[in-house]
Amino acid sequence: MLHAFDAVIVGSGGSGLYAALEAGRQSRTAVLSKLYPIRSHTGAAQGGISAALGNVEDDRPEWHAFDTVKGGDYLVDQQAARTMAEEAIQAVYDLEHWGLPFNRTADGRIDQRRFGGHTRNFGEAPVRRACYAADRTGHMILQTLYQQCIKNQVAFFDEFQVIDLILDQNQCSGVVAVELATGAIHSFAAKAVLFATGGFGRLFKVTSNAHANTGDGPAICARRGIPLEDMEFYQFHPTGIKGLGILISEAVRGEGGILRNRSGERFMERYSPNLVDLAPRDIVARSIMTELRAGNGIRGDRRIDDYVHLDATHLGAETLRTKLPDITSFCRTYLGIDPALAPIPVLPTAHYAMGGIPTDIHGRVLGDARGTVVDGLYAVGECACVSVHGANRLGTNSLLDLVVFGRRAGRHIAAYVKDAPPPRLGADAAAQASAWIARLTDGKPGPHGGHLADRMQTLMMQQVGIYRNAAAMRQALEGLRELHGRYRDVRVQDRSRAFNTDLLELIELGNLLDLSLITASAALTREESRGAHSREDFPDRDDVNWLKHSLAYLEQEQVRMDAKPVDVSVWEPKPRTY
Ligand code: FUM
Repeated sequence: MLHAFDAVIVGSGGSGLYAALEAGRQSRTAVLSKLYPIRSHTGAAQGGISAALGNVEDDRPEWHAFDTVKGGDYLVDQQAARTMAEEAIQAVYDLEHWGLPFNRTADGRIDQRRFGGHTRNFGEAPVRRACYAADRTGHMILQTLYQQCIKNQVAFFDEFQVIDLILDQNQCSGVVAVELATGAIHSFAAKAVLFATGGFGRLFKVTSNAHANTGDGPAICARRGIPLEDMEFYQFHPTGIKGLGILISEAVRGEGGILRNRSGERFMERYSPNLVDLAPRDIVARSIMTELRAGNGIRGDRRIDDYVHLDATHLGAETLRTKLPDITSFCRTYLGIDPALAPIPVLPTAHYAMGGIPTDIHGRVLGDARGTVVDGLYAVGECACVSVHGANRLGTNSLLDLVVFGRRAGRHIAAYVKDAPPPRLGADAAAQASAWIARLTDGKPGPHGGHLADRMQTLMMQQVGIYRNAAAMRQALEGLRELHGRYRDVRVQDRSRAFNTDLLELIELGNLLDLSLITASAALTREESRGAHSREDFPDRDDVNWLKHSLAYLEQEQVRMDAKPVDVSVWEPKPRTY
């Protein structure tokens, strides 16, 4: 089946919906989503969206941009960070005017709270910058944007899994998708395609990410010859529920929660004397692991590792009820505890990809180290790398990235499609995608992919996780290549066409396996420690050799690495202390 639009948006999280809203005002725009839109993972973002509104204490976009750059260990493109911090304020007010129910100050303004690495006056002391709707800020953003899309008659193709990009001589002309309800393959011709497919936390065994977060957009781009940027930088959020990885928001610490080791010590005082529990996430996650390695963790049972406590018992029932109701309910449901009465057992959980599809500040995809724009192709949100997060993202900057760059990309698309050439779809546009599906479903007996996924996640978690070294990563790469080989033999076991989730999972596994090779190769290549990339064999940051973005090309199941410069035009890189 063939469809034609001016613009196709792939993914219906915050960035996809915002882009669709803007593009849809002036062009025929469709959103393709493998989920029902409001099930997108933006809905799981808890603690807040940052903007220097200055509602409860003095704040400025310049301080926000600086914190973002320093938080990202100076691998952030600095003008992009400035753009994000400056446009944050209007973005939050726009959401407010569309009805987003932010928590309020006593005098009716949007309330703001502390988050990791947010400071006033270039690092002097913590500042309240995170605007929030209890601990369901992402959920509220998603609902607000979806309502606007419906109001503005954006066309939705729900439960369509995109599996290929139509790209010829640097010109994008559309995508190919499987309709999950029927198993039919559809081609979508479009002058502009935007990937907003979210993250890929499902690379790892323990993650805060939804099952849908399988890196579909980046994997498709990589297979079509587009490099992926800074893929070695993967963030572990310090506080996932032990053993499960479900997110316990940093907002708990923003409201005054304290991390404690087995002797009840507030150990972050030793690692970050200035910001303590509200140091950036890479530092807190590493500090927890260091405590565990030193034997200071609370003893787990045989199934679950040692852990630390997040103590919110002193915050009071009223704060938990009005500002942290969802995490309170998660603790009751998954742990059987009331956080007002007992500390929460936590461990770091794979949370956020700083790297992804390289773009400029309009969301246009950049196809090489020289910054050549791929005509008609855009990416925003977690699947993209603009780059405003560098080597480590600050909490609440992800929701901000979604809305600021989703809006920018949508506006750019609306202008671009006015004069863009009509899409050229050859007769064989869907051939490669169809061949993949045919191979997975050809009826030949073959193993199921579940055990491959499990092995991949274990290798990534244990050997390409918070602490890394060359020997472990080489071994992981060997294992990942073997899994890649075995993937060629896997087959769909379920023979039905309608809602064949077995097929969907195998497609997603193929994407994750490609990204696992890229992530592990990029991590092995970068011989320094920076932000979330922490090498035991290269413990120091090395600006002389490594102050550069990595670019990884997937070539015949091998990964070729290249690099491009970082924009350090505003702040000179300095040692990063908190
Ligand atoms: O901890 C949190 O609420 C997560 C926020 C984020 O990743 O930005």
